[in-house]
Amino acid sequence: MTETIAELYNQRFAQEMGAEPEAAAENEVVRTILSHRTHRRFLPDPVPAALMETLLACAYSAPSKSDLQQATVLRVVDEDKREAIASLIPSMPWIGSAPEFMVFCGDSRRIRGICERRGKLFANDHLDAFFNATVDAAIVMQNLIIAAEASGLGCCPISVIRNHATRVAEILQLPEWVFPVAGLCVGYPSAKAYVSVRLPLGLTVHVDSYDQTALDRELDGYDQRRNLRYSIPEVKQKFVDDYGIAEFYGWSEDKARQVSRPERDDFGEFVRRQGFLLD
Ligand SMILES: Cc1cc2nc3c(=O)[nH]c(=O)nc-3n(C[C@H](O)[C@H](O)[C@H](O)COP(=O)(O)O)c2cc1C
Repeated sequence: MTETIAELYNQRFAQEMGAEPEAAAENEVVRTILSHRTHRRFLPDPVPAALMETLLACAYSAPSKSDLQQATVLRVVDEDKREAIASLIPSMPWIGSAPEFMVFCGDSRRIRGICERRGKLFANDHLDAFFNATVDAAIVMQNLIIAAEASGLGCCPISVIRNHATRVAEILQLPEWVFPVAGLCVGYPSAKAYVSVRLPLGLTVHVDSYDQTALDRELDGYDQRRNLRYSIPEVKQKFVDDYGIAEFYGWSEDKARQVSRPERDDFGEFVRRQGFLLD
């Protein structure tokens, strides 16, 4: 049975929708997006080549800053290269087992090469050049995810490759001004994944001015609602040596513990080595 938009909204936020959904929103695209869930277990069946081409066409139908088109997708089909990347991250075996694995790269190299061919100086060597390429790559990846999920596939983005950015860049021979934004596993799901409950729109959408009070107002309720749907088992509490076992361990405690330890603090150095000025 097809779920209504109101049911999917409730699934996403563990809250009732404020208004009756408009009839115009009752469509498959909206349903696909609201039903999103990350998949990490896949059947061995390959993704047909023609479907991959369509998904990539959808990916590159994403908007692009100034039409500069600064995203490059690197499909990792060589088994040795895939294994070399997967072995860097043994805690995420889906990187090696997914039928398709791609790396979405921000690419500021192409436009610089075009400047050279056209006899022009590239006069935008600053943080925004890096940022624009990152955004382009991210939305190209998201378009692929939506198209893939609408086609019965499941996906898992992989930012953990950036913990090993130098090695990944070596394996994939990423030249100057090209950098990995995220990997993406794609395949037919072999297990049902659950819908992750998001922060309420009352907290993440502000009107006319930034509203910090929304966090105080909404956070505890979110932790509680999310916990009712999926409570984090005690064995999954993070850094208990430092923080102990919490009696109530909600999303906010989990995320606060996560970011209390540095991660990937050498990424800026990697990006600078790839040629970017981040000023
Ligand atoms: C940019 C990005 C990077 C991510 N990196 C990883 C990753 O390295 N490994 C992983 O298992 N999941 C990764 N994820 C998936 C998130 O954990 C997931 O999106 C989040 O828990 C919310 O769940 P949902 O996508 O099912 O709604 C990533 C997601 C995004 C958007």
